[in-house]
Amino acid sequence: MYLLIPAAGSGRRMGSNRNKLLLEVRSRPIIAWTLLAAQASRYISWIGIISQPIDWQEFQEIIADLQLSKPVELIKGGSTRQESVYNGLQALPATAEQVLIHDGARCLATPNLLDRCAEAIHNSPGLIAAVPVKDTIKVVDENGIIQSTPDRRQLWAAQTPQGFDVKLLKQCHAEGIRQAWEVTDDAALFEKCGYQVRIVEGEETNLKVTTPQDLAIAEFILRTRLGEE
Ligand code: C5P
Repeated sequence: MYLLIPAAGSGRRMGSNRNKLLLEVRSRPIIAWTLLAAQASRYISWIGIISQPIDWQEFQEIIADLQLSKPVELIKGGSTRQESVYNGLQALPATAEQVLIHDGARCLATPNLLDRCAEAIHNSPGLIAAVPVKDTIKVVDENGIIQSTPDRRQLWAAQTPQGFDVKLLKQCHAEGIRQAWEVTDDAALFEKCGYQVRIVEGEETNLKVTTPQDLAIAEFILRTRLGEE
């Protein structure tokens, strides 16, 4: 299975002036934890990290340090996540029929989750890891007035990995460019093109490290997982 890791964002919401994936959690850069999960996955055999060239030297050092046995390629990122994934899809080897896309910022996803997604993609051309929402969600207008309260039983919080048939996802991205769709995940493009996307049960701990609070939570989860004090 081919894995693309979007890792070309900035650290704006982290209050950092560098790529947040280079910040450390439990003595390793965030991206290193994501790579270790990919390395431990049974099915992933190729890893593409989509990132900005300014970070490539640091990424290369991290990859060398981890001594990964799987091939890793660096692919140039875009100005949005959508553009970054588009670039990643163009850089996939011609043999790639299916792909998992997993945000570098979700460094707590377990190898088991990656593997469950890799297995499920054989039965569905589009899938995402997701968890049922616990909060009641409100739709709010620009004046802060609630417009509606969707039925919570139908709401799921989207995570990554997201898995797709490569040919179809490339088509959906091309259509997204033609129609100037702006989306925050790849499933949204698949949905807009009328293709079915299936849910795979995600993990509550699979958070996207976005703010300094998330870093502290990630640190705590990793320490607990590794059986440390
Ligand atoms: O900004 P956000 O946290 O939603 O980004 C999700 C993932 O997409 C992160 O892993 C980030 O590095 C990546 N990204 C990207 N290219 C961009 C913006 C974000 O690969 N231009």
